[in-house]
Amino acid sequence: MNNLHVSPGKNNVGAYLNELNLNKLHQAATKKIRDILDTYGVIFIRNQNLSSEKYQNFAKSIGELVEYPRLKGLKDYPFINVLERKPTDKSIAFGGSYLHQDTSYLAKNRPRYTMLMGIEIPKGQGNTIFSSGFNAYRKLPDNIKKNIKDAIGIFSSAGPISKTRRELEARAGVKSAKVLEAEHPIVHEVNGQKSLYISPGHLMKIIINGKEDEDLKKYLINHVNKEEFIFSYEWGKGDVVVWDNLTVMHKASEIKNCTRIMHRITIK
Ligand SMILES: [Fe+2]
Repeated sequence: MNNLHVSPGKNNVGAYLNELNLNKLHQAATKKIRDILDTYGVIFIRNQNLSSEKYQNFAKSIGELVEYPRLKGLKDYPFINVLERKPTDKSIAFGGSYLHQDTSYLAKNRPRYTMLMGIEIPKGQGNTIFSSGFNAYRKLPDNIKKNIKDAIGIFSSAGPISKTRRELEARAGVKSAKVLEAEHPIVHEVNGQKSLYISPGHLMKIIINGKEDEDLKKYLINHVNKEEFIFSYEWGKGDVVVWDNLTVMHKASEIKNCTRIMHRITIK
């Protein structure tokens, strides 16, 4: 395999990798895929339908697999979490209706990448909505860029998103764990591109020069939610999507009266 065919997603959020068959993945392609992921923040690979073995092997080619801190995995593949939404589930958005970056509330060893494969996909609903931290940062006014250069965000597992996550935990029979809180810079740089890291679903405060700035927090949350930075990805069965939690935010869209099953792997 020499060339990967890349085409950007809507609003320049992420990239489709077309004509790629992960069932026949060559070593030479894996480094390229990783570079594309770092450059675009999220990659979309349609219609792969991988076995758990192949799915896990692809994830290993991106990085070291980590067990998700709160949910159990498949019996033979402990790194694969099953995310299942049932028709009777009441919550409007599965997995949280706030843009967020997974596990931003961990102080150390935040898993970098999240990978999902569509196992059972309802027609016309349950999109995953992505917002590009690269694009959002690039479009900030210069004075804000300067102002947030050394700003710190305080992120908590008990942030706005936690209600839906607790429902998942209750169903999995996992006791709600103690609240985890961490601070991280809100600007990160990946391969020379700066990106906004504010995980609205977990963000509690923004601190600049030792002082909380609530207005800036509201401004930035509003900014990353603007239509111009958003791509709503419509899933197909067997699709594999990988995103970089440093540079891309995501959330689930409205979903009701249907079953939806995804397999998730978290990668360092
Ligand atoms: Fe998430």
